[in-house]
Amino acid sequence: MTPLLILFGATGDLASRKLIPSLYYMFTQGTLKGRRIVSVARRDLSGEKYHEFLKESLSKVGKYDETDFKAFCGHFEYFQLDFSSQDSYVKLSELLDGPYCNYTKFFYLAVPQNIYVEILQNLSSSGLGQGDARIIIEKPFGFDRKSFDELELVLSQFVSESHIYRIDHYLGKSILRSLPRFIPNRDQISEVYVNSNEILGVENRGDFYDINGAFRDVGGNHLLEAFALIFKEEQDRLESLKQIVTPSDEEIVSSSRIGQYEGYSEIEGVQDGSITETYFNITLKTKDGIKLNLEGGKGLAEIKKYVKVIYKDNSGFYVDYGPDQKVCEIKDGEEFVCYDFEDSKDHYVREYAMLLEEAFKSNKEYFISNEEVEEQWRITDAILKVWRDRKVNLFKYKKGEKI
Ligand SMILES: NC(=O)c1ccc[n+]([C@@H]2O[C@H](COP(=O)([O-])OP(=O)(O)OC[C@H]3O[C@@H](n4cnc5c(N)ncnc54)[C@H](OP(=O)(O)O)[C@@H]3O)[C@@H](O)[C@H]2O)c1
Repeated sequence: MTPLLILFGATGDLASRKLIPSLYYMFTQGTLKGRRIVSVARRDLSGEKYHEFLKESLSKVGKYDETDFKAFCGHFEYFQLDFSSQDSYVKLSELLDGPYCNYTKFFYLAVPQNIYVEILQNLSSSGLGQGDARIIIEKPFGFDRKSFDELELVLSQFVSESHIYRIDHYLGKSILRSLPRFIPNRDQISEVYVNSNEILGVENRGDFYDINGAFRDVGGNHLLEAFALIFKEEQDRLESLKQIVTPSDEEIVSSSRIGQYEGYSEIEGVQDGSITETYFNITLKTKDGIKLNLEGGKGLAEIKKYVKVIYKDNSGFYVDYGPDQKVCEIKDGEEFVCYDFEDSKDHYVREYAMLLEEAFKSNKEYFISNEEVEEQWRITDAILKVWRDRKVNLFKYKKGEKI
């Protein structure tokens, strides 16, 4: 059956910056043909007004073809719905059971995670989860292991695990998926560095960021998954995550640094006296003795997004998965030969397009399993408990300063 995407949060930041441009990319590639999108959000918008929103979203990220645009808009239908109002779901189910009754329904929750449970419960009680429905959700999956379990319980009442697509867009990065190509074998590796440093600050996402912090934002999900992707040919991602030892309190204290940039607490949505980290650096280890260094944060001196693997003989490789998208071989600890990654053009747009396409094909390989999330929280909860108990000093840094 043809997939129907029901995009909850169709006027939000994620939809505007990533999903709509990716859908347009699919349109230009011919892969949106015959497929439809029901865009769901709270604002009262006419179809035309929503088309203007689509146009604004595409203009912000670059070029689109005016002559194609009308045909692109033809794939969308806007549906106003208040997530908390049961009546609106009844109307939505009339639409989905009417003209769209022969489509496979993919409910994509591009909304703040604190509304997931309410939406899922309302979808369930209006009978929308019955049949073959699929759900696509974005990380973070819960706030800790406990809230993840609560979310899972509600999800399991709506659909089975095989119909849940948990998105971590790092799994859509071709350059990271190509990592195993460079690995001789696991037992030759001594150290791995995975890094996500950004120049941009928290901007207007104070509410979201302050409850989560840098490690929950990128460390405990994206960076751990990037590490797991290295060994994809030898063991599945879950096995690689299981290899990471839960660090003891003493190990966390001695191996981590956390910081917060000056001025962070003045951002709207951030609590007075917040102790949330905007920067972290921590070294973990695996059961077979690989040292894993994770670093990430915001308001930093330069963009650094890389995976570096060092072998026992001091050679290795370095993959820049940021805007530059390049791969370098390392000889004797020095960067040696670098070449651009062949698939670098439009990579941000391609990532989501690829993930949507794989979900439509029911290919779960590109999505995070519930067991992977459990492993992520095993590590994250242990680390955050120590940091939030103030056992590690939170240093202040100036935005843009080298630290
Ligand atoms: N933004 C990113 O780059 C990014 C990256 C990775 C993951 N994520 C995840 O993606 C999800 C969405 O994030 P976002 O930044 O796009 O959020 P956002 O900008 O706050 O968007 C929220 C969307 O939900 C709708 N909405 C909120 N409350 C509603 C209600 N009661 N009834 C109906 N509609 C309601 C809004 O509609 P109205 O506009 O009509 O109010 C809007 O379309 C989050 O889980 C986030 O963690 C985001």
